[in-house]
Amino acid sequence: MVATTDRSEKRLSIQTAEIAADTTTIRSLDWDRDRFDIEFGLQNGTTYNSYLIRGDKIALVDTSHEKFRQLYLDTLQGLIDPKEIDYLIISHTEPDHSGLVKDVLQLAPQITVVGAKVAIQFLKDLVHQPFEQQIVKNGDQLDLGKGHVLEFVNAPNLHWPDTIFSYDAGTQVMFTCDAFGMHYCSEATFDEDLGAIEPDYRFYYECLMAPNARSVLSALKRMDKLPEVTMVANGHGPLLQHNVSELIERYRRWSQAQTKAEKLVVVFYSSDYGYSDRLSQAIARGITKAGVGVEMLDLKSADPQEVQEIVNRAAGMVVGMPPAGNTTATAAVSTVLAAAKSKQIIGVFESYGEDDEPIDPLLSQFRNLGLKEAFPSIRIKEVPSEATYQLCEEAGTDLGQLLTRDRGIKQRKSLDGDLDKALGRISTGLYIITAHKGDLKSAMLASWVTQASFQPLGLTIAVAKDRAIESLMQVGDRFVLNILEEGNYQGLMKHFLKRFKPGADRFAGVKTQLATNGSPILTDALAYLECQVASRMECSDHWIVYATVDTGRVSKSDALTAVHHRKVGNYY
Ligand code: FEO
Repeated sequence: MVATTDRSEKRLSIQTAEIAADTTTIRSLDWDRDRFDIEFGLQNGTTYNSYLIRGDKIALVDTSHEKFRQLYLDTLQGLIDPKEIDYLIISHTEPDHSGLVKDVLQLAPQITVVGAKVAIQFLKDLVHQPFEQQIVKNGDQLDLGKGHVLEFVNAPNLHWPDTIFSYDAGTQVMFTCDAFGMHYCSEATFDEDLGAIEPDYRFYYECLMAPNARSVLSALKRMDKLPEVTMVANGHGPLLQHNVSELIERYRRWSQAQTKAEKLVVVFYSSDYGYSDRLSQAIARGITKAGVGVEMLDLKSADPQEVQEIVNRAAGMVVGMPPAGNTTATAAVSTVLAAAKSKQIIGVFESYGEDDEPIDPLLSQFRNLGLKEAFPSIRIKEVPSEATYQLCEEAGTDLGQLLTRDRGIKQRKSLDGDLDKALGRISTGLYIITAHKGDLKSAMLASWVTQASFQPLGLTIAVAKDRAIESLMQVGDRFVLNILEEGNYQGLMKHFLKRFKPGADRFAGVKTQLATNGSPILTDALAYLECQVASRMECSDHWIVYATVDTGRVSKSDALTAVHHRKVGNYY
């Protein structure tokens, strides 16, 4: 049974559905993105999924975002008298799942809140009132009766240190909150249309999970010990029922690839403090784009031994300034300083909490230890915007590229001479891709471009994974392909080949016009095509982006396209 309550003027609605024996989902459907979070790149809205399990005892798994307060509480009370609920299981305390915990507890003060130790600590700060509590560890069980024995799986860092999964042995449903989720809002309760959801599933993994790949693999190892999982009841997007093993295995594959990266950067953030976790995610995503592994650690709950061990393994570190006066965080920063070595690189950012520790004293301590700054420290003076997150991502990529530069030069020298020269005989045109999305603009010089279909008109572009513009070329995004003119391309090429600082305006001093799709057209280009990304294929160090072409124009019908001839095939 699926029921939907629509409040279309707000584009918020609620869906309830029976998903397994005695198990109901309450899905808060948030059709429009109303704030920018890095992992919302595909703009398909999101859902916040909550669950009710009715054994002899009744458990609610997670709640919803506070923007759904009335809708969610009305729906919950339509399903059950909250006074009958015995347990509220907290998979993770971020406000999109725990935003209504306080409200639920007001309706039902008898509830015992069940969660990891860290989650219960975080919740006390969120709720500011006493509540019954039960701390659970990996392997602990909670018998709800009627066969619903819940087993808890420790899943720290997915994506906060407080996360637990709950496996119901009676239904073989695994409740995973953020993990195996996606920001994708539709009426579909389940994942029957894999093609529609997989770009979001991947993008969400890259933003939230790839920086925690080791933790993903540890959680999968613990999951492997459980009996079969036949459904993943996640916290965002459609539930997994039709592609459970396929989508779980993708997490394994992607995480294994991440952990094989030669170099590692550790990103220290403070959960639930200012914009620390969002900013750190953007930086982490930028680092992973350069093929460098990332591990994220919460300063507010970090174990000193773990901090020391991870700093010893890292080639670089990023520190988000923690709140002043948090003793655990302050001690963790001291441990970072004590373990830091001169050959490491460092980046520092403010969290825009109310009381960040100052950047400069910490930075000079790192400098005195001989660490090199990978990017200018990020000082946030206002609520982060899309441009702030772009700056963070680009700073992360700069840091990653600093660590991989030598490897790139070695690879370029390592190809066999003849093969190298033969491959270099593949010639292409010269193009500049320009894209505009929300408040963001970017551009990239491209040469690996080719027409790929007639019906519809389509082309492919190979985009290196560490290019800034890659984030603006997700499925559904629009861009312009500017085609450069033979004999008249040097100025544009020189400009766009420059190394831009993180967040720098690529278009300063360049003549542009606005395309119908909102992206800049370069006035001095020979022709342009307005395109929309239809799909992407992962090819090792590049994404092959397939885009359909909507419209285009040529400025001089008798001029030729600039041609790019190369001597060797292992570089552009
Ligand atoms: Fe969906 Fe990390 O909250």
